[in-house]
Amino acid sequence: MLLLFALLPALGAAEPPTFYRDVLPVLAERCQSCHRTGQAAPMPLQTYKQTRPWAKAIRESVLSKRMPPWHADTTAMRYRNDLSLSEVQRRTLIEWVDGGALEGDVKQTPTLPAFAEGWRIAKPDVVFSMPEPFDVPAEGTVEYQYFRVPTNFTEDRWIEMAEVRPSAHAVVHHAIVSISPRGGGSVFGAQFLAGYAPGSAPQIWKPGVARLIPAGAVLIFQMHYTASGKPATDRTQVGLVFAKQPPQEVALAVRAVNSWFEIPPHAADYKVEAQYTVGEGMKLAAIRPHMHMRGKAFLVRAVFPDGSAKTVLNVPRYDFHWQPYYYLETPLELPAGTRLECVARYDNSKNNPRNPDPDKAVSWGEQSWEEMMIGWFDVLVANPKTARTSSRR
Ligand code: HEC
Repeated sequence: MLLLFALLPALGAAEPPTFYRDVLPVLAERCQSCHRTGQAAPMPLQTYKQTRPWAKAIRESVLSKRMPPWHADTTAMRYRNDLSLSEVQRRTLIEWVDGGALEGDVKQTPTLPAFAEGWRIAKPDVVFSMPEPFDVPAEGTVEYQYFRVPTNFTEDRWIEMAEVRPSAHAVVHHAIVSISPRGGGSVFGAQFLAGYAPGSAPQIWKPGVARLIPAGAVLIFQMHYTASGKPATDRTQVGLVFAKQPPQEVALAVRAVNSWFEIPPHAADYKVEAQYTVGEGMKLAAIRPHMHMRGKAFLVRAVFPDGSAKTVLNVPRYDFHWQPYYYLETPLELPAGTRLECVARYDNSKNNPRNPDPDKAVSWGEQSWEEMMIGWFDVLVANPKTARTSSRR
């Protein structure tokens, strides 16, 4: 009798997971942002029928951590857009496959969050579209496309929400919309406004934080299209919600750049460094490493004025195809004088399957067979126009 009681819970635990009760909730939370009809991934994983043929591939992709795509080390730092599976979620998927990928009882499906259709930000005050649709061929490589869209703003505008929305998700690998001030140059060059990548969330700043679009600015859409096997036509839009009043804090895009490097032929682990020094106190909100096909790893450390240091981003295996902004769970205070030090590593050897030509020395350039080295940072600075001035009485 005693033995039977001791065995029962163990037997219960050994019962294999079923699709409806155990697997569907994991797919909904961690996979369907991309794996649903009309989104970026090649196949939806929404029903048992759709998912069952992929069981083996799911097991393999989850074991190798290729899926969900997430490349930052989260032991050093936590990010609020982390896509990775918890250990329990990973085990559920693997044990489901190992247990025969059972369907189970549809009535056991827990309540699942619904996906929003249409805009995910509040109703936009203004929507800008690419000036014309772009035809993406069924096959082949498409170079980056750039479109200029004048805002015709006659006054400065503060933006508190921004969402980039492709019309043909399946072929939009990523889209970046940046702000080019009237006349072109500013201290920071074109400012990042908002971006889209598969599975990404819209840009929604906390109350009291906003991004500035100066009067007369032009929006630049940088579009990276990938052929999906079927011809498609895309016309990406960006929707903006204006702040009702000037913010306390301004969200700025700044960067550390090194454009003076030459990676020798066949170098397997070539290091390039760049840094950004904080002039006045600010908060670090997000980081995005940018390299091309030979990019291998990217590390960012904050070195504080007292000499102490903290790793804020470690991407040990960089993948050109996944370049999200990593949003810090809590923005990090950077006192004046803090240096954000970036170390990029490149693999120009023939062991890098993406390498277009290991016999070439490679330097800075826009094209994907050339290289780049940029650490992009989203920082929050006090808005001088709304900052409380010390009382003079
Ligand atoms: C951020 C978007 C995104 C998320 C989230 C995502 N996938 Fe994918 N997945 C893709 C894309 C895009 C492809 C096809 C291209 C590729 O393989 O990179 C893909 C391909 C796959 C494949 C095809 C075979 C393979 O391994 O390439 C499997 C299986 C898969 N995903 C399973 C999953 C599972 C399971 C989850 C959730 C645990 C998940 N994916 C989450 C975007 C995503």
